[in-house]
Order: sequence, then C-alpha cells, then structure tokens
Amino acid sequence: MKPNIIHLPETGSTNSYAIEMLAKARPDEGCVIITDHQTNGKGTDSNTWESEKGKNLTFSIILYPTITADRQFILNKAISLGICNFLRAELNHDDITIKWPNDIYITDKKVCGILIQNSIIGNHFDYMVIGIGLNINQTVFVSDAPNPVSLKQITGKEYDLEKLLQNLLKSVFEKYLRVLSGQGLLIENEYYNALYRLMEWHEFRINNSKTIARITGTNEYGQLVLETESGLLLNCDLKEVQFII
Ligand code: BTN
Repeated sequence: MKPNIIHLPETGSTNSYAIEMLAKARPDEGCVIITDHQTNGKGTDSNTWESEKGKNLTFSIILYPTITADRQFILNKAISLGICNFLRAELNHDDITIKWPNDIYITDKKVCGILIQNSIIGNHFDYMVIGIGLNINQTVFVSDAPNPVSLKQITGKEYDLEKLLQNLLKSVFEKYLRVLSGQGLLIENEYYNALYRLMEWHEFRINNSKTIARITGTNEYGQLVLETESGLLLNCDLKEVQFII
C-alpha cells in the first residue's frame, strides 16, 4: 500500500481532520494525515494527547476495512502489533509490549497511544480512522499523563521523524493486510504473546476494588480476561479495569 500523505503544519487533531474530510469525500484507502503541531490532540475517554511541536509522530490513517464490523477488535490487534513490532526492530529492545487494549509500552512506560474512531453501518465499516501518537524526540512531558516516555529518553538518540514514519506505516499496513487476507489467527497469537503483564500476578483496580489478578488473554469481544487468585475468570471492558503501575 503506497499511502497518500497529507502533511499539515498545524491542526487541532488529525483524527478530527480525517473525520471532517470523510464527511465531504472518500480519500483513498491508506491516506495519512500528519501534523507537526497538534493543538487539541484527543486521547481515549475524552483525555487529551500531549505532543510538543515538531518532536513526535502524530497522525491518522484512513481505512475502509472489508471485514464485518463485529470483528473490529482484530483490527485493533493488528494495528497495535504493527507498531509494537516496528518499535522492537527499531530499538532492538525486547521489553516492548501492548498494554490492552492498544497502548504500546516500553517496560512500564507508555510510548504510544492509539485512538481508533469507526463509522459503522449495519455490520459493515463505512470507515476506520486510526490515530497514532508516538513519542519520539520529546524529553519533557508537562501534562498529567501518568507515565510517558519517548524513544529519545530510552536511547539518547535524536530521530528522523520522516524515516520512522515510512517504516512504521509499512509495518502497520503489513499487519492490516494480513487480517484482510484471512491470517487473523496469526495476528491473534502474536497479539496474545505481546500483551503487557500477560500471566503475571499484579494488583489491578477491578470495578473499583483492588484485586490481585493475572491477565490470561482477551475474549472474542475484545474484553480483557483476568483470573483472580481464587481462580475466578473476569471479562472486563476498558472502564471496568485499571492497571496499577
Ligand atoms: C490514548 O492513548 O489515549 C490515545 C492517544 C491517541 C493520540 C493520537 S495523536 C494523532 C491522533 N489524533 C488525535 O487527536 N489523537 C490521535
């Protein structure tokens, strides 16, 4: 997939820009909207996304997935894996994982956030906008986001954003195309093995009470499955479980 890249010096949010474009036209699949300065970056759960001007990758990809919309979580998995694998190769670091549902962590710190906004009609995708914020050269974070980290903070190196973008897109599109070509099972397995804190006992806040549990995987609805010390299996949505890090 050779993406058409729209480069904006500044915009509020690349996801919002993409969605506004989609209200008027149907850009080619794989179209990327990227900005040097995102002034109103959106995170999940009406959080904001901090990104210093010119220091990081903040962009959105427009896709028109041809799988049924009830399988949407496999696409979240594919995108997260594409980013995770790209970072593992780039940093040659073996502790890069996916914190469910789709944050990317380096050890216990968040290097990347993903905000996927879908439009679904019946059981079909009208479009999918994948917003990716990847911390690259920023070294001071001022917002109250709990545990941010950048590539530069890990390696001490200054990165060329353009080069990274090309490799990152290649990795993400490769995983996406695997889902479309029926290789979803491979993605499921890889995602499982890349999960942050998989099968490790930790304290979580589950439905507002502190509980020792371990992650055993995700279910077909994309929920996180946790096992408590008494052997109880819990299927949790995003709002029901908080990691304690
Ligand atoms: C999160 O971790 O809460 C998700 C953060 C997603 C941030 C990216 S930056 C590019 C795109 N545009 C936005 O407004 N948000 C996403």
